[in-house]
Amino acid sequence: MSTHIEAQAGQIAKVVLLPGDPLRAKYIAETYLEDIQQYNTVRNMFGYTGTYQGVKISVQGTGMGIPSAMIYTEELIQFYGVETIIRIGSIGGMQKDVKVRDIIIGQGATTDSNILRNIFDGQVHYSAIADFKLLDTLYHKALTMIPAKNIHVGNVLSSDRFYNQEMDKEKLAAYGVLGVEMEAAGMYAVAAKHHKRALAICTVSDHLLTGEETTAQERQTSFTQMMEIALQTAKE
Ligand code: ADE
Repeated sequence: MSTHIEAQAGQIAKVVLLPGDPLRAKYIAETYLEDIQQYNTVRNMFGYTGTYQGVKISVQGTGMGIPSAMIYTEELIQFYGVETIIRIGSIGGMQKDVKVRDIIIGQGATTDSNILRNIFDGQVHYSAIADFKLLDTLYHKALTMIPAKNIHVGNVLSSDRFYNQEMDKEKLAAYGVLGVEMEAAGMYAVAAKHHKRALAICTVSDHLLTGEETTAQERQTSFTQMMEIALQTAKE
């Protein structure tokens, strides 16, 4: 057991999919995995292990924001020997060619959070980046499943605030930031610290420049695609 996860040793797979929403973890486990076992109910942050096409995979909710996501990433790696972390989430689009329902793969994660600055005692602005091999595998899986124009790879903003009227969206977009989510930078840093692999794949649920939003039905369909891409990558 760790502080926030009540699993026994060996109950969690080496590769874990991490949606922010614990009910999405439940949905993924019940929809895609066989022989599922729920290993966590602490704080209703559900975690499940099962098999996907014969491969042992776990799925764990993280909650919203870098501090919560870092807790689950740290405990999975440190206490349960997890080697590969794939965040699956939603993201607000910030570029003209990024459309709602598209997929953004976070090659790097810029952040306004002080957490990374704390780790390095203010000495540097650490670049939180995805694991290259994991990114390469996932990108090529995605290309076999959806059109290339709907897949974007690059810098995301991991923001501390969902409601952030003060953020200079235009400047971030001008510097190439594709979209805003709230967890990737913290997860990338924790994985890097432990020499493990992390990657975030997100579907565009809303657009900060156009104000466009997805309907609940559209969100479900595009989330389904993202989950399948992540699962196909996880079983490699
Ligand atoms: N996730 C999805 N849309 C978002 C937004 N606009 N800001 C932060 N996180 C998000």
